[in-house]
Amino acid sequence: MSENLAAKRLQELIPTIMARWDERVRAEVPPAADAKKVILRDSLAKMLEVMAKVLGDRTDPRTAARDLAYPTIHGEERANQATYTLEELILEFHILQEVVLEELEPDHRLDKRDRGVIIQYFNEMVRVTAGEFVRVQQTLQAYADRLAQSDRSKDEFLAMLGHELRNPLGAISTALFLLQEGPADGAARKGALEVATRQARHMKQMLDDLLDLARINEGKITLQRTRLDLGIEVQQALEVAQGLFSMRKHVVSVSQPVERIYVMADSVRLGQCFSNLFVNAAKYTNLGGRIEVSLERDHEGALVRVRDNGVGIPTHLLANVFDLFTQAPRGPDRAGGGLGLGLTIVRRLIELHEGRVEAKSEGAGMGSEFVVRLPVLDA
Ligand SMILES: Nc1ncnc2c1ncn2[C@@H]1O[C@H](COP(=O)(O)OP(=O)(O)OP(=O)(O)O)[C@@H](O)[C@H]1O
Ligand SMILES: [Mg+2]
Repeated sequence: MSENLAAKRLQELIPTIMARWDERVRAEVPPAADAKKVILRDSLAKMLEVMAKVLGDRTDPRTAARDLAYPTIHGEERANQATYTLEELILEFHILQEVVLEELEPDHRLDKRDRGVIIQYFNEMVRVTAGEFVRVQQTLQAYADRLAQSDRSKDEFLAMLGHELRNPLGAISTALFLLQEGPADGAARKGALEVATRQARHMKQMLDDLLDLARINEGKITLQRTRLDLGIEVQQALEVAQGLFSMRKHVVSVSQPVERIYVMADSVRLGQCFSNLFVNAAKYTNLGGRIEVSLERDHEGALVRVRDNGVGIPTHLLANVFDLFTQAPRGPDRAGGGLGLGLTIVRRLIELHEGRVEAKSEGAGMGSEFVVRLPVLDA
């Protein structure tokens, strides 16, 4: 049989092939019974017409199949039907190939070439469709994995939150007990009051962070932006961390250019970012460590660098330090405490200012550097 004859015959048989294919697929591939999503069936006529053209014009069957959009769409649709497997998808095409060959062959013996062309065309169809199917399935799986991971993180976070809030509360209860029951010794009373005050402040800080994060996530934070001298903002934030620096005997140095750098920013929120970075530098740097803060300006804008020679960040954590709840493992006492919210808040707030923040570290024990970039306001 010449290819033209086979092509002509195929054209005539399109309605029959479609009907037979539909019937067989419904019987043999159960999920395909959902007619709305049977993209392949809807585009079957078009696909068979192209096949007839391939037979008639000697077009390359692989190119012809690859150029069609519907194998891709079909693969995508099937992958989205969660119960559908790759085997079922291939079976659909297999049935189509069988029906086409059976319909063409009884009265017209297909010559070798025509048969080869049809099979090649199908193979390419299956290849493209299955490729898309697998790609979409992998994307869906990755998404499901991420959701599951975030769910686990939330569970872990709740457990940690309970722990972190119970510690200061325990200290406050003990202090109150001492004040009520203990000896009326002035120094002891003062000590107990100090503990209670410090721990209450710590608790308030944690609760503020939690509420802030929730508000940032809901897009409820609006910046009150004014023209600010970045040097002054950094100095003010340093004062917040000063107590911690002194307590831990850190050597803190600050450098800034003679030219003032101005930014359009929310003073409170920017201060919150810098103090978070300074407090981190203090918390994660051993006694007597060095902390360097520098203000710079380059072609892109303003930079604030906070560098320490502290515990550093393990390479595998570096990419995730700004993610919610990410914390390097700590000893069983979880010295240093914290909820792992600080850097998440910093990044979101800096991004609200059209800036960005980056973490660098050569690894555990090698110190860390945080670089904040902000657009400058020309004086
Ligand atoms: N300067 C730093 N040096 C070493 N590790 C750091 C530094 N800053 C942050 N990290 C690591 O990144 C983690 C996340 O920091 P982040 O500020 O988000 O949370 P936190 O300090 O643990 O708690 P929070 O800030 O909510 O009180 C920290 O737990 C710590 O492991
Ligand atoms: Mg922190």
